[in-house]
Amino acid sequence: MKSSFLTIGLASLLFLATGYNLVKAQNEVQDQGAIETIFARKSVRSFLPDPVEEEKIELLLKAGMAAPSGKNIQPWEFIVVDDRATLDAMAEELPYAKSLKESPMAIIVCGDSAKSFYWYLDCSASAQNILLAAESIGLGAVWTATYPYEERMDVVKKHIDMPDNIVSLCVIPVGYPSSPQPAKDKWDATKVHRNNW
Ligand SMILES: Cc1cc2nc3c(=O)[nH]c(=O)nc-3n(C[C@H](O)[C@H](O)[C@H](O)COP(=O)(O)O)c2cc1C
Repeated sequence: MKSSFLTIGLASLLFLATGYNLVKAQNEVQDQGAIETIFARKSVRSFLPDPVEEEKIELLLKAGMAAPSGKNIQPWEFIVVDDRATLDAMAEELPYAKSLKESPMAIIVCGDSAKSFYWYLDCSASAQNILLAAESIGLGAVWTATYPYEERMDVVKKHIDMPDNIVSLCVIPVGYPSSPQPAKDKWDATKVHRNNW
């Protein structure tokens, strides 16, 4: 009788301790969904023809504008392209952006080089926010570089009538992915150094 009380007591203690540790672990890593999105993001280059809803486009742009920027200058500008002829023409002329042929739209992330000499860093943070936001709402997207390639930036300039101080960083085709695609696992412990190399 005594020993069964002891067993029940120990089991209850163990149960409480396990429960406490589980709650503690959850509290220590409180994910609001961002971590899941970060690990699920992948470059999507093949799209369904379905258009992207206006409210979703606006959300992507808001995410882009929520990025950090040096001295909070926010040197970014965004061009939303959903004109089929322009998308097709850019797909023809940009060698690494052929997916524009399939995507129903694209966002061109540009920077004002007159506002900040590291506009491309701020705009990179902005572009990454757009990619993550797209992943988070079920859209696919891919960063296709224009900067620092003069010939690619010239292609964008030719199709989009923009002022000389505005430089395109990347063209991001956006749309609904044609098929589900896993994200790559890039974790590499050898890239991590602590306190010293
Ligand atoms: C600065 C930069 C330039 C890139 N340029 C291109 C590009 O021109 N065309 C393209 O298809 N993908 C481009 N990508 C996407 C990469 O190929 C892709 O991120 C990489 O292969 C890793 O795959 P993941 O995005 O699915 O993780 C670029 C990505 C970055 C960050």
